[in-house]
Amino acid sequence: MRITILTGAGISAESGIPTFRDADGLWAGHRIDDVCTPIAWWKNPDKVNRFYDERRAHLDTVEPNAAHRALARLEQHPGIDLTVITQNVDDLHERAGTRNLNHIHGELRSALCSKCRTHTPWDGPLLNSPKNCGRCGRDTLRPDVVFFGERPYRMTEAETAVINSDLFVSIGTSGAVYPAAGFVTIASGGAMTLELNLQPSEGSDSFDESRFGKATELVPAWVDEIIAEASAMLPPHA
Ligand code: OAD
Repeated sequence: MRITILTGAGISAESGIPTFRDADGLWAGHRIDDVCTPIAWWKNPDKVNRFYDERRAHLDTVEPNAAHRALARLEQHPGIDLTVITQNVDDLHERAGTRNLNHIHGELRSALCSKCRTHTPWDGPLLNSPKNCGRCGRDTLRPDVVFFGERPYRMTEAETAVINSDLFVSIGTSGAVYPAAGFVTIASGGAMTLELNLQPSEGSDSFDESRFGKATELVPAWVDEIIAEASAMLPPHA
């Protein structure tokens, strides 16, 4: 069974990472135009670096939760071909053990050279640090996060996984940001579609099925169901 999962900030909320658009979310306290656009970076890189430095430092204080761990468990199951596409820039999926993972909006623990586009693993702050690109040597590293107006990463791979799915599942995303919000429409051509979210997302009507509640409860329960289904389809002694 080929399953493609799209995750958003809601899957990491119960680990203590704020979402973006909930009442206490990041975009309530920060303007997107100040911290998450190419113009913001050009006008005030220190402010952008400070914002993402805080997010990166916060990663040291949080852990994957039961929803991240359930997806890692699903990937290991025989008969399951799983791709996780995440809009999240945290590293909780990989710390939980997910391997086939596509960070379409970038990663906090990486820096991007704004000149030669080389990605460099990055753990500390970018603000007030020497930040020369290891490849071109210029002092042009920036947070490796896709700003509004930029093309998300590895979209061809992401769309190919979505198109080839038997089942597409969206977890913890508001469906407010494209192109990821359009994946359900692409998947609907050939796959069953399921939404797992605290509340209906903007594209909720496009899903074949929706379940509402906390990710740490919904996701492990759904994974148990799928594993039972996949086990029943395996040949004897597999
Ligand atoms: P949002 O903040 O837009 O949406 C988070 C969703 O998670 C909402 O629908 C919540 O109802 C839901 N949610 C909150 N807590 C939850 C929980 N415990 N269990 C399940 N669901 C829960 O975040 P995203 O959809 O990820 O992009 O936002 C998409 C993109 O917009 C982000 O990747 C980021 C942002 O601007 C960039 O920075 C480029």
